[in-house]
Amino acid sequence: MRKKVTVVGAGNVGANCALRVAEKELADVVLVDVVEGVPQGKGLDLAQSGPVQGYDVTIAGCNDYAPTKDSDIVIITAGLARKPGMSRDDLLFANYDVVRSATEQIVAHSPNAILILVTNPLDAMCWTSWTVSKFPKQRVIGMAGVLDTARYRTFIGEALGVSVQNVQAMVLGGHGDTMVPLVRLTSVSGIPLTELLSAEQIEAIVQRTRTGGAEIVKHLKTGSAYYAPSAAAVEMAESILKDQKKVLPCAAYLEGEYGIHNLFVGVPCKLGAAGIEKIYEIKLTADEQTELNKSVKQRVG
Ligand code: LAC
Repeated sequence: MRKKVTVVGAGNVGANCALRVAEKELADVVLVDVVEGVPQGKGLDLAQSGPVQGYDVTIAGCNDYAPTKDSDIVIITAGLARKPGMSRDDLLFANYDVVRSATEQIVAHSPNAILILVTNPLDAMCWTSWTVSKFPKQRVIGMAGVLDTARYRTFIGEALGVSVQNVQAMVLGGHGDTMVPLVRLTSVSGIPLTELLSAEQIEAIVQRTRTGGAEIVKHLKTGSAYYAPSAAAVEMAESILKDQKKVLPCAAYLEGEYGIHNLFVGVPCKLGAAGIEKIYEIKLTADEQTELNKSVKQRVG
């Protein structure tokens, strides 16, 4: 049987998630949005790129959840995006209702799905979807760390003039300005970053990573990033659908790991067919743990 991925929200992030799932031929795609016509139009347009691009999956757009029935994965992107000057938590109240009602619909139609949350404020929206769905914690996963790490790796690749493929790194914590890029564990093909760049250069990259989303909002003026966020969400979906067991930083529900209880926080996770199959609790230095705690305190940021 073919796999099915539903993408909730047919805005820029959602449409690009649908496109990436189709281009990788991971699954048939259903694009849902409350706005009449938009998911239908974008769904048709995406389907019609198949013959040219060479992908062979079905893509449907709709306003109701009936066609989403028995999805394997649901990527939730619906909600308002930031405008310049806004923080991610300014979106909390508006997006809470959006994510709550989407989750209710998903549970009714796809009780076995794995949920990947993208809507901001990310950590709070994971909590919302998890409590509303009552799904096991392994099946509610937030996308932030893969995106934040991609930004960090991009800046490092650029600073050193090396392939981003060789930059190994991990950004933990909340999806906000206090996220924690783990400099100590960052390397370029095994060479510690600290041997390649000065402390000042690294600090500048860490800061730019932390405000990486806002930098794009400032340029775009009317919304936030979508190419890298959709790429990140689909990397997670792919690891689950193909049972690849990639180790990726994801927002996961913690029950004591890293000394954190009952919150969604970005930590290294193994993603496979069951969703989050393992949370890696790596030994942090005292400074890193302090930074992580600070980030958790501001977790809706
Ligand atoms: C960003 C949004 C997706 O970081 O939170 O660009």
